[in-house]
Amino acid sequence: EVENKVNEIFNQLTLEEKIGQMIQIASTNGDEVPQYVIDAIKEGRVGSILNAGTPKAIAKIQKIVAKESPNKIPLIIGRDVIHGYKTIFPIPLGQAASWNRGLVETGANIAGKEAYDEGINWTFAPMIDISRDPRWGRIAESLGEDPYLTAELGAAMVVGFQGNELSAEEGRIAACAKHFIGYGATENGKDYNAVSIPDYQLWNTYLPPFKAALDAGVGTFMTAFNDINGVPASANQFLLKEVLRDQWKFDGFVVSDWESMSQMIKQGYSENLRDVALQSASAQLDMEMVSSSYQAHLKELVESGEVDIEMVNTAVKNILRVKVALGLFDKDYKGVPKNTEILSDAHKEEAKKMAIESLVLLKNDNALPLAIGKEKIGIVGPLADAPAEQVGTWSLDAVIDQVETPLNTFQEAYGDQIVFAKGLENARSNKTDQIKATVEAMNEVKDVIVFAGEDAILSGEGHSRAFINLPGAQEELINALADAGKNIILVVQAGRPLTLEAVENKVNAILYAWHPGTMGGPALLDVITGKVSPSGKLPVTFPRTVGQVPIYYSSIESGRPANPQMLGIPTGTPLDPVGLTNNYLDVSVTPAYAFGYGLTYTSFSISKPKFSKLELTKGEKITVEVEVKNTGKKEGAEVVQLYIRDKVASYMRPKLELKGFEKVYLAPGESKKVTFEIGPDQLSFFDKNGNVLLEKGKFEIFVGNASDNLVSEIITLKEVK
Ligand code: IFM
Repeated sequence: EVENKVNEIFNQLTLEEKIGQMIQIASTNGDEVPQYVIDAIKEGRVGSILNAGTPKAIAKIQKIVAKESPNKIPLIIGRDVIHGYKTIFPIPLGQAASWNRGLVETGANIAGKEAYDEGINWTFAPMIDISRDPRWGRIAESLGEDPYLTAELGAAMVVGFQGNELSAEEGRIAACAKHFIGYGATENGKDYNAVSIPDYQLWNTYLPPFKAALDAGVGTFMTAFNDINGVPASANQFLLKEVLRDQWKFDGFVVSDWESMSQMIKQGYSENLRDVALQSASAQLDMEMVSSSYQAHLKELVESGEVDIEMVNTAVKNILRVKVALGLFDKDYKGVPKNTEILSDAHKEEAKKMAIESLVLLKNDNALPLAIGKEKIGIVGPLADAPAEQVGTWSLDAVIDQVETPLNTFQEAYGDQIVFAKGLENARSNKTDQIKATVEAMNEVKDVIVFAGEDAILSGEGHSRAFINLPGAQEELINALADAGKNIILVVQAGRPLTLEAVENKVNAILYAWHPGTMGGPALLDVITGKVSPSGKLPVTFPRTVGQVPIYYSSIESGRPANPQMLGIPTGTPLDPVGLTNNYLDVSVTPAYAFGYGLTYTSFSISKPKFSKLELTKGEKITVEVEVKNTGKKEGAEVVQLYIRDKVASYMRPKLELKGFEKVYLAPGESKKVTFEIGPDQLSFFDKNGNVLLEKGKFEIFVGNASDNLVSEIITLKEVK
């Protein structure tokens, strides 16, 4: 049915109108529709608008389309609805710390519904770039370092936005798997930098989350700004044609990133805009975002035969397929939509749940939970009462005056018991003039909660850092409070892993809060005071120092493996190499905090794993069962994690690879069984050409609650024929 409608519309289009569908232009904020947008619509030169303005402006735009455009094809209205629309959820990296597929799906669903209610049809999310460099500002928008965790949570986001497939149902918008591909592997963490990824790693690390998004039905893909091994993503025939279309059979559409096509000129890949259009069209890039190479040159390239008309026909059908599936042709564009659900209590409640589960307790010397009686409690720090900093990067539509900051939440709960001093003007300020007065203000206070970290502006697109410690004079502020003998609970809000070694021993607890969103304050109140136990686990490894970057748990073992206890100058020489290992002289090889790590207020035991058998052949599966028990005194949740290591393979395999996880919620004394399956899906990997390899031999299977706290057993895959 969709296909019939697509063909019916397609058959009426002239070449110019077809090319018009392949163009996306940016509009402006506000109620008005700029003249250049009106002209483009009337002349059939546009298929999509991003950042189209208020609901009123969007309604006007679609009305002009319906009345005055040559072919009356509705525009698909795109917007970056990344971690909430008006009700803001934690940044995606924080959401990933929840390890909770259901909550992530709900978050996307609410974001999509709120955006839909204001006329938006398409979000540029999820961002599923594997990110292993905390210097990179966009790690904030990612789901972390791991292909499996990213694949699972990215797919959950796709389903949250779209449902099980693209649909015309109310509240559903199209998702976009971005950035295809390798953007997170940007050299030295600088944004928009070159990317080199060996094919073998592309298949095993970078492509799986995109395949998972595709399997979840994602309607669109966005190309990355970067090149991959010398060929820009926006002209990459191998990735866009061979992988995405020929192998994966993707039939939605691909959009470029903002001017990522015209930027190929500066990158030294294209001579001029004509070249750009030719190169991207030759890779079947369906829609150009903002730059104008298709507008200026695609027609002449088709007429000269340099671009096959089939490229244009395919692109237009891909775009129409998404528009038809979303029901854009059947919508009533007569009025401005009503939006009673936006920022509703129900939406805020879900944002709070997600914020709670995103919190990761990194350190706790019995300082948390904080039992607050009648005594005064100190709240210090530039981020305690900074609403805009709670929401983090890419929250274009956040309603800042609806944000519940930690300070106002604690003040509401404890009134005059709260003694507040900001300490620094903002998180990046080097001015130390308020520090003395801040310490004095805490004179009668024993427990001080310090809200430190990064202002939102310190992460996100084009915002990379070379140093990733607490910026400004925050370390001095914490030191001064420690010198005054305060019990310090450090709450870190940041868009990336920070290196905290300078303050770690000065504080009694560290709770990592990312940028927690609209409901960050209430979430922090509940966890700090012990109403709820923290249950977040790191989706990314935390380095001790920036010199360890990139550091990730699934690295390849060295032939001279590191000795984690070793530090200093080794005794060996290259000619007598005993003692020469894969170590640093000046810092341990272990991270500050491992992938999958996170403390809580109760304790759990995970039983020795029970394997259904220890040998299997190709068609078979093994089950691994553990019993998780809450052995402590408080309710809580544990994330049981399953990893594998392929002991010997035709390509060296990672030391550990996450292959399963389940979050279990347990009352004190309660226990639950968790079962994982191990079969070909978990034991196979890709060769450099993308062929699946299942090789017999031994595999070590690990179960535990963090990548550095696991027990293991060996299984053998006997026959693979
Ligand atoms: O969606 C974004 C992308 O992630 C980065 N460049 C701009 C796009 C549209 O706003």
